[in-house]
Parts: sequence; structure tokens; C-alpha cells
Amino acid sequence: MLKWGVLGTGEVAFDVAYAINYVQNNKVVGVASRTAKNAEWFADNLPDAKAYTDFEALIQDPNVDIIYIATPNSTHSAMMRKCIAAKKHILCEKPFCLDSKEGQEIKALANAANVFCMEALWTRFIPATKQVIKQVKNGEIGSLRFVKGSFGHIFSKNRCYSKELGGGVLFDLGMYLISLTYPVLGSPDTQQFTPIIGKTGVDEQSHFTFSYKSGIIASFQCSFLNDLENTIEFYGENGIIKLGPPFYRTSKISFDTQSSPDAEHKKEVRKNPYGYPGPMSQAPYYKERLKPILPSKTKLTSVPFKGNGYHYEIEEVYNCIQKGWIESEILPLDHSIKVVDIMNKLYKSEPVI
Ligand SMILES: NC(=O)c1ccc[n+]([C@@H]2O[C@H](COP(=O)([O-])OP(=O)(O)OC[C@H]3O[C@@H](n4cnc5c(N)ncnc54)[C@H](OP(=O)(O)O)[C@@H]3O)[C@@H](O)[C@H]2O)c1
Repeated sequence: MLKWGVLGTGEVAFDVAYAINYVQNNKVVGVASRTAKNAEWFADNLPDAKAYTDFEALIQDPNVDIIYIATPNSTHSAMMRKCIAAKKHILCEKPFCLDSKEGQEIKALANAANVFCMEALWTRFIPATKQVIKQVKNGEIGSLRFVKGSFGHIFSKNRCYSKELGGGVLFDLGMYLISLTYPVLGSPDTQQFTPIIGKTGVDEQSHFTFSYKSGIIASFQCSFLNDLENTIEFYGENGIIKLGPPFYRTSKISFDTQSSPDAEHKKEVRKNPYGYPGPMSQAPYYKERLKPILPSKTKLTSVPFKGNGYHYEIEEVYNCIQKGWIESEILPLDHSIKVVDIMNKLYKSEPVI
């Protein structure tokens, strides 16, 4: 049995605690909060959990094997350092940390202490996400040309707007777009960042673009102020694969292959665009151009999505620890640190507004 301690009693802590208890051979045995009221309320809602009002006491508890860190972004690094010192395995909420150099230090410490450590990027383990990344990497849409994605919901939570707690929409929502496309794209060669900074000093909506020497462009939007389309799309020479909406809780993948045969067909009709004797609008070339811009031959694939979706990452953690691994092969620490590094570079670039 893998016995979990949970740090924090916020929204995501509750969802993930339920998912931990849902996975066989895993259970939450303790929860820590800054207040007794919160810890007790949380523990009362879980069958085997004890309430702690001291984070350190839970981390040091010998009955606990692994700590799930669900406190605000700016606290992640310090909490991880405490867990490593206590030789506890770690699942830490996203973003892994706020500074990539700090991330490298934590990786070195965790590896040296032989403790398992992974960022809780739950969406990376959802079956649809895993399948799409595999399909794109396997070249099922041919060479990749363009990637686009958006993630936006109306958020009013304090911590999201607090600079001190590591808020900002790039750290909170944009990071998913970077992280989920990173296995395919890697680090960008050039980047542009357009944040809209609110009165608390953090970006509330942002647009960023990456370009790659291989010829790929990626364009992303994130917002605390609006619902966005919440999809991730990969455009290749032979088709388009779309995850979502919403990409983070989807059981549907759409795969459009029309662009490939069309490309050949268009070459044919372009050979003699003006040779058609009838009205110009009837010429094959123009008829082709009048077709809806979005291709219509879409194949929808259903992929399982069970429970609240968080148990997929818990299964990954459990399986890795069972095998004696200290990092996940699917989401190694280098991946999480690179994503932080990309965000650090974006934040360092001059804000346009
Ligand atoms: N994986 C996901 O789907 C997902 C979704 C949302 C957020 N997250 C990540 O999960 C973490 C928590 O997010 P959340 O939305 O659950 O936040 P939240 O609802 O604001 O909860 C954060 C909790 O952390 C505790 N805490 C400890 N130190 C704190 C401090 N200095 N200031 C404020 N709270 C403190 C608080 O518990 P007490 O008051 O009981 O001490 C609070 O309930 C963040 O890192 C966020 O990026 C992940």
C-alpha cells in the first residue's frame, strides 16, 4: 500500500485526494493545512486520513510514503526540499517550480536522495493526450507545420492574481499548452510573448508564439478573463489532429486527412485554371477555392476517460515506484524543468502592454 500525505486543502487537493483513494493499493493517510478547521474538514471527508496543522509534521510522519504538494505555485520548491530531506517521494503540482535553475537543484537533490519525484501534470497521462502525442510523433500527419492551442476560463481566485504566490496566467494555464506540446516540439528557437498585465502585476491574458528552425510555428493563447476554445491542434502536411474541446478532459480525438489528397488534386486543377470555357466561378480551380476552408473528412476517435481524470497520474506514480524508478519516463523532471525554462524566458521578454 502506498500511503499519501496531502499538503494543502484547496480545490485541486480535494479532487486528487479522491483520485488517490480510487486507485488500488493507494490511500491518503494525512492532510495538512495552515488551519485546523480546513484540515479536519478535509480529513473528515476521506476514510483513513488524519488532520495536521503543521506541514512539516505530516512530511516527517513515518507512516507516510509520498507527499502530494497542492499548495500555491511559489511554495512548491520549499515544500519539495523538505520532502526530499525527509526521504519522501513527491508528486508536486504544476508548475514544477518558478525558476528553472531551482528546478535543476531539486532534481539533483531528489535523484541523490533516491526519492521519486514528478510534476502533477495530470493531463499528460489522459489516454487521449497520450494517443495524440504518439500519433504526431509517429508521423501520422506527416511533417508538422503548425501547432495551435488555447486554454482560458474565468478565474477569480486570489492566488492566480498574486505575484507573491506565483500567479499569472502563463504559469497557471499557458504552461499546459507548452508542456503538452513539448514532447513533439521541444524548446523553441525563437519566441514572442504578448501579456496583458492586470492591476496586481500578473499577466491575466497572454498570447505567445514559438518558431522552430525545422519550419514549425506554434501559437498559443491563455486567459483568466474568458473561456477560450480549449483545444490543441497539430497541423501536418497530411492532416490535422485536434485534441478536445476541452483538451484536458476529452475522450474524443478528431483526425482530418483531407488536406493530403486535396493537395494533389489542387495541383491538377491549377494546371489550367483559365482554360475552362464556362463562367469563371464554375472553373474547377475556383470551385475548389470556394469550398469551405476547413476540410470535411473528419474521423472522430473515442478514447476512454474514466473518473475525474486525476487517477491516471496516480497510476503512473504508483507503477514507477513499484518498479523502483525515481522519475517517470513519460514525464521526466528534465521535461518539467525545460517547460519552466521556456516560461522564464517568456516572462523575461519585454511585455508589449
Ligand atoms: N492539476 C490541476 O488540475 C490543477 C488545477 C488547479 C490548480 N493546480 C495547482 O495546484 C496548486 C493549488 O491550486 P488550487 O487551485 O487548489 O489553489 P487553492 O484552491 O487556492 O488552494 C491552495 C491551498 O494551499 C494552502 N496554502 C498553503 N500555503 C499557502 C499560502 N501561503 N497561501 C495560500 N494558500 C496556501 C491553502 O490551504 P490551507 O488554507 O488549508 O492552508 C489552500 O487551500 C497550484 O500550484 C496550482 O497551480 C492544479
